[in-house]
Amino acid sequence: MCGIVGYIGEKDAKNILYNGLTKLEYKGYDSSGIALIDDNKNLIIKKESGKLTQIKKYIEDTNIISNIGIGHTRWATHGKPTQINSHPHTNCRKTIALVHNGIIENYLELKEELIKKDHKIISETDSEIIVHLISEYYTGNLYGAVQKIIQYLKGTFAIAVISESEPDKIIIAKKGTSMLIGIGENENIFGSDIPPILEHTKNIIVMDDYEIGVIEKNKVTITDLEGNILNKVVENIDLTIEMAEKSGFKHFMLKEIHEQPRVVEDVLRGKIENGKIKFDNFNITKEELRKIEQINIIACGTSYHAGLVGKFIIEEILKLPVIVEIASEFRYKTPILSEKNLVIVISQSGETSDTLGALRVAKQSGAKVIGMVNVIGSTIAKEAYGTIYTNAGPEIGVASTKAFLSQLTMMYLFMLYLGDNLNLIDNKYKEYIIKNLEKIPEKISTILNKSDEILNIAKQLKNTKNIMYIARHINYPVALEGSLKLKETSYIHSEAYPAGELRHGPVALIEENVPALAIALKNSKTYDKMLSNIQEIKARDGKIIVLASEDDENIDSIANMSLKIEPIDEIFSPLLTVIPLQILAYYISDEKGLDVDNPRNLSKSVTVE
Ligand code: F6R
Repeated sequence: MCGIVGYIGEKDAKNILYNGLTKLEYKGYDSSGIALIDDNKNLIIKKESGKLTQIKKYIEDTNIISNIGIGHTRWATHGKPTQINSHPHTNCRKTIALVHNGIIENYLELKEELIKKDHKIISETDSEIIVHLISEYYTGNLYGAVQKIIQYLKGTFAIAVISESEPDKIIIAKKGTSMLIGIGENENIFGSDIPPILEHTKNIIVMDDYEIGVIEKNKVTITDLEGNILNKVVENIDLTIEMAEKSGFKHFMLKEIHEQPRVVEDVLRGKIENGKIKFDNFNITKEELRKIEQINIIACGTSYHAGLVGKFIIEEILKLPVIVEIASEFRYKTPILSEKNLVIVISQSGETSDTLGALRVAKQSGAKVIGMVNVIGSTIAKEAYGTIYTNAGPEIGVASTKAFLSQLTMMYLFMLYLGDNLNLIDNKYKEYIIKNLEKIPEKISTILNKSDEILNIAKQLKNTKNIMYIARHINYPVALEGSLKLKETSYIHSEAYPAGELRHGPVALIEENVPALAIALKNSKTYDKMLSNIQEIKARDGKIIVLASEDDENIDSIANMSLKIEPIDEIFSPLLTVIPLQILAYYISDEKGLDVDNPRNLSKSVTVE
């Protein structure tokens, strides 16, 4: 949930940490802080609640010279977002500083013991306990103290620790949440994600659970808990710094919406070989796959919506049953799974706590579990039996857009993969699907080029208090996604319903101030039904915005406003219908002057339950 960055080298650490934190703010942003060791071996801490502006001001005003430091952005879990609760935390003598991402489940127990030993715990956080514990075991060797205390920590953690007694090293360790180390020349930088590292180096070590790193200016040593030195692979990450920054767009969300033609191309790239789908890390043999009788998809939020579209695709085309479940519900149910189930957990971040919990439950029940994730080296990617990477690149905007589209696109490839291996699809239809998928990037670009029309609609809707989204069949999950995008970025209350459900209650909400957005594509098999629903809303004075196909000549005489996409076979339509809904949510939020990329109360990855 939080973001960590650390630097050691020859440059001005405070600026590097601040820059790194700006690239991590999306991970959590209710407070932030840095710890530096200056030339006189003094530990200096600056931390504040709120946005990074305070840290920026401090950095501009101070003349401290330091080449080593750690930084943190926080999204509160234990304790309010106050200055005292923000990181870095220190021991009583203020000689050791620590930043932490994750949750220490047994912190109350540890706290009691530490208090008995006269430690003064000043914050409400679970994190502060760790630094006191390190101090308790510190006998002149920071690495040794960290190595010692890890056994006492229950829960998840990525930690970075510095001590003024050892001003030439940073000790890091992790379990259950990510930590990456960038290897530079006469400098090393690490972080909980790639963006802060990329501008310094592309050579990255991905740490595994229960590893400890000693980060020095010219050396990185990774050991296991017993102290054995590990030979870690240094990967060359093929991402440019621009990919992680805004590229001239006003917000990350807009940039990421505009990246979607490229994202679809990237998802398709290298996956289709001689008409067959190829997944590198699937790890399930054809024989094992043939025993599968049911697919279960588990995810949260937007990723859950991608799963719902996946269900339509797989059931429509392969006639293979699919159950889609919300991870936070699934993990506490009695799982009815066996080796006959193939479980797909979908997660952009690969760190969502409930999805990870669901993955573990599913694994225990004997089912084969595949992670469909975006973030390389994430916990879900590591724990799943096999992984399908969705290749959307770093997604910084808190509201997911391009990651959703990459998940949707991957669902078609996944369906084809199953179809091929289980002989459930004929070659001609497969070719038809691949051809259509290859045309999607151009069709998305056409929609993006008409963004101004959507902006006009956004201007008319920005003061609305409630909006109803309706759709049927494969576009119902898109209505759910459009509605989620709107409420999270614009704080407008909206609900999405399968249009057939209107008469069963929700139509009571309709009146002239409650517009409805209907997805009604002319070639859809439920088009006529959608038109009757639209008429019902009109009869109750509700304004109607229709997301229609360009060849629907009559729609403008029925709708108050319309958004248009190119005509497309309904089975592929979610890949296009979601785009105007994302743009609409973006523009409404921007028109209202809201913080589009960092909506209130939200965090990019939800690593707590
Ligand atoms: C909404 C959004 C969230 C995430 C959800 C799951 O725009 O981004 O609903 O989809 O928190 O996150 P991941 O996919 O990282 O597991």
